[in-house]
Amino acid sequence: MSSFVSVANENGVAVVTINNPPVNALSFHVRKPLYEALAVLRDDPAAKAIVIACAGRTFVAGADITEFGKPVEQPELRAIIALLETIAKPTIAAIHGTALGGGLELALGCHFRVADRGAKLGLPEVTLGLLPGGGGTVRLPRLVGAVKALGMIVSGAPISAGEAKATGLVDETFDGDLLANAVRFADEMADRGGPFVPVGDRNERLAETDLAAFDAQAVDLARKTRGLEAPLACAKAVRNAIALPFDEALAAERQLFAKLVSGDQSRAQRHLFFAEREAAKVPGKDLQKRRIERVGIIGAGTMGGGIAMAFANGGFPVTLLETGEEALQRGLAMIEKNYAVSVSRGSLTEEAKQQRLGLFKGSTDYADLADCDLIIEAVFEDMAVKKEVFGRLDAIAKPGAILASNTSYLDVDAIAASTSRPQDVLGMHFFSPANVMKLLEIVRAEKTAPDALATVTDLARRIGKVAVVVGVCHGFVGNRMLSARGAENEALLLEGATPAQVDKAFTDFGWPMGPFQMGDLAGLDIGWRNRKARGQTAVIADTLCEEGRFGQKTGRGWYRYESGSREPLADPEVEALIRAKAAERGIEARAIGTEEIIERTLYPLVNEGAKILEEGVAARASDIDVVWANGYGFPVGKGGPMFWAGLEGAGRIIERLEYWHQRTGRAIFEPAPVLRRFAETGRWESARG
Ligand code: 3HC
Ligand code: NAI
Repeated sequence: MSSFVSVANENGVAVVTINNPPVNALSFHVRKPLYEALAVLRDDPAAKAIVIACAGRTFVAGADITEFGKPVEQPELRAIIALLETIAKPTIAAIHGTALGGGLELALGCHFRVADRGAKLGLPEVTLGLLPGGGGTVRLPRLVGAVKALGMIVSGAPISAGEAKATGLVDETFDGDLLANAVRFADEMADRGGPFVPVGDRNERLAETDLAAFDAQAVDLARKTRGLEAPLACAKAVRNAIALPFDEALAAERQLFAKLVSGDQSRAQRHLFFAEREAAKVPGKDLQKRRIERVGIIGAGTMGGGIAMAFANGGFPVTLLETGEEALQRGLAMIEKNYAVSVSRGSLTEEAKQQRLGLFKGSTDYADLADCDLIIEAVFEDMAVKKEVFGRLDAIAKPGAILASNTSYLDVDAIAASTSRPQDVLGMHFFSPANVMKLLEIVRAEKTAPDALATVTDLARRIGKVAVVVGVCHGFVGNRMLSARGAENEALLLEGATPAQVDKAFTDFGWPMGPFQMGDLAGLDIGWRNRKARGQTAVIADTLCEEGRFGQKTGRGWYRYESGSREPLADPEVEALIRAKAAERGIEARAIGTEEIIERTLYPLVNEGAKILEEGVAARASDIDVVWANGYGFPVGKGGPMFWAGLEGAGRIIERLEYWHQRTGRAIFEPAPVLRRFAETGRWESARG
């Protein structure tokens, strides 16, 4: 017996309990006693059946991810499952919480799976750049069919216990005391008698596979992987399960797993897994949190509406405030329309829609915000307007209410100073659409109280957001780095690149789209208005806007679009405009390669990240990676800009930055001291660590 695995006998049924908090990962110190316990029970006449269950909040959540990349200690998970499959008496996995990855694979090694009705089951390895390496790709298709298994393994998304029952993954679901029900189930199976067939020997469902449907789905998927190796390897492994004998398919799965686990993409995705959890560790996280029951939102425009939906989706009643009845009704109608779209797509029931709409209260009177525990301002991006709003909030908000701004760029210290309670003020920078995008930058102002910060970080998780705490500066982490990434865009065009060429360099890198496609999608008029407000100009983009080329919404921008299509088509008019602007400046076109595009866009991105660390605007390099992977589409297989800098080689980045700095004199290319130290030590430092 060990403290991680215990065995009890319940009227002849052996109950093996894994207890490895917090999520019962299959660490070596679990695998070893688990193997030993099963080996004894296999031949123990006093046990007529074996139930594997877990203590704590969940069934096994997978292999221990911290062990990847280290030498494997025996027994491996596969050996435990192989042992399970030699047991003649019935074996039953009793699943509560989540059975994920190696956890579900362990359960697939059992003859039967019973689950709490609230449980979830899945193989999320693909999200870590892996495939299930404990036989999941070979056994799951034998229970649920190859097409369903492919979908689950490639998406990584877990399914509910109800769906698992319907597809044949679990044999029974229960409400109430799962363990008592599992023991009763085991007892019945033992009485019914064998032979009990291991999942690996069940071939009926595989034999029914519609190969054409399977291959069509696999091809469809290959088109969407954007350079990620794991989804393709997953599809290959499931195909092997259909085409090869069990043992060969299992061996092939292992080889594919070994290749992925030692590769950069999986390292990058594992880095992001831990980075997201690390980001939640903010100073004061253990302090008593403030109670947040009702949320107020000021401004029912693009962002206010989305933020309000994010909270209603999390079950919070929301008061939405606008300047007038018409704007309010417009905002509420947009929310209703968005929910109606979800209903028509089948992702929300009509009942849930009504229940969520019931959480909204519209108002044009600030007094109605007096009962809110958190109030988020999402009005125009104008300091004078924001200050006026916060001044009014100060007069009516209850003591201790947290007052937040959704500003994209503005100084949160200045906003806080317009109240008599700067300790309660912070930034909550959501991303558009706010009900969908997972990233939330929480801006800690100079006087923000630690318990206010901890409360909002905690709350973010409750509404499904990935939160990163950042400091005050123009554009915070994300938008500030975005400016650095885009600073050379027009220069590249003037010197000879085309928008399509730059965008292709980005999509080849793994971004979902390039900066010019992105501009056309978001609307070029937004940046134009911002530039005008700040007295700035952009040689080409300003002219495009003056010609009414705002992007997709006007059918023309950096590209042209056929009516009803979102496909960007190169536009000779734009190319002529670029050449004309270059000629005015005496710039001759030259060939610009992909490498140069990367050096002049992504190296400044990394460099700006280093400056952000230097200033302490971000506490950790991994926080910056979380921002970029969750808010800006940085390819997850490269782990975010700061992780990628290590892959790319800091020495090379510095050398090329110096070259471009000398050539252009632009500050974005001047290597930050923190980047130089990273090149020497391999560690990122932050002024706020
Ligand atoms: N290995 C090691 N540590 C893990 C872990 C794992 N598989 N899963 C979670 N943890 C750690 C987290 O890092 C966190 O640590 P911290 O408190 O020090 O930051 C702690 O456990 C709690 O995790 P969460 O904050 O994520 O807890 P939640 O309750 O929000 O979520 C969960 C629970 C849904 C189980 C979530 O942790 C999760 O999704 N875990 C990963 C599941 C997974 O990917 N499993 C597959 C692993 S790969 C595999 O099994 C390979 C096999 O095929 C051979
Ligand atoms: P928007 O123009 O769509 O909405 C602003 C709304 O605020 C309008 O409905 C307006 O009537 C209302 N409003 C203005 N003054 C008000 C006042 N004094 N009291 C109550 N309501 C008032 O603007 P959007 O895009 O929603 O932006 C809002 C804020 O969110 C800005 O600070 C912006 O920088 C920020 N933001 C915008 C993002 C985007 O992608 N649009 C992303 C992240 C942040």
